[in-house]
Amino acid sequence: MTSTPTEVPSPGRRIGTTVATACLVLVLLGVAVMLIWPRTVQTAINNTVSPIGGPFTLTTQTGAKLSDADLRGKPFAVFFGFTRCPEVCPTTLWETTEALKSLGPDADKLRVLFISVDPTRDTPEFMARYLQSFDSRITGLTGTEADVAAVGKEYRIYYKKVPTEDGDYTMDHTATIFLMGAEGQFKGTISYGEDMAIRLRKLRNLIAGAAA
Ligand code: NI
Repeated sequence: MTSTPTEVPSPGRRIGTTVATACLVLVLLGVAVMLIWPRTVQTAINNTVSPIGGPFTLTTQTGAKLSDADLRGKPFAVFFGFTRCPEVCPTTLWETTEALKSLGPDADKLRVLFISVDPTRDTPEFMARYLQSFDSRITGLTGTEADVAAVGKEYRIYYKKVPTEDGDYTMDHTATIFLMGAEGQFKGTISYGEDMAIRLRKLRNLIAGAAA
């Protein structure tokens, strides 16, 4: 038995049909993903990864209460540390002081917060004395251990009390500066030791309302 050419599709036509079928499958898959993605995958992401930042009420170095709601309308940079920090905190505060100076009048369109991870020792009075060495626009914040734990969790920072040989303790802590928009939304970070030019660009972007 021999088959006639009309009964068997030519190889070219067969490839054409296969390609067409493959394309159709891809298009259908694409449509399915587009329909399913926003509802399932995106929901799963939103449910598991909370945004950086969140509500807090803490006490400033003047003894006043300050909450995240009070910050609305102005972007802010926030970082965590403690006044007895031997290096990271004074360096960050000094570099931030320099950055605010370089920003000139634009620096007033921004707030800078320094939240203590050692609130037992860092009373408002102690914070006030310590912050005298830096730009007066830097707001020191402290509270109860629970207040600090809550805000630390919102910013997903790490901090830990570490005993020292002399029976005292020091604090290990995240050195990142978090850049937050005028509505309290996360915009970006500045790393410890980051180049001043990059630092300033990020702060200018934050003031302009762009992604840092
Ligand atoms: Ni520190």
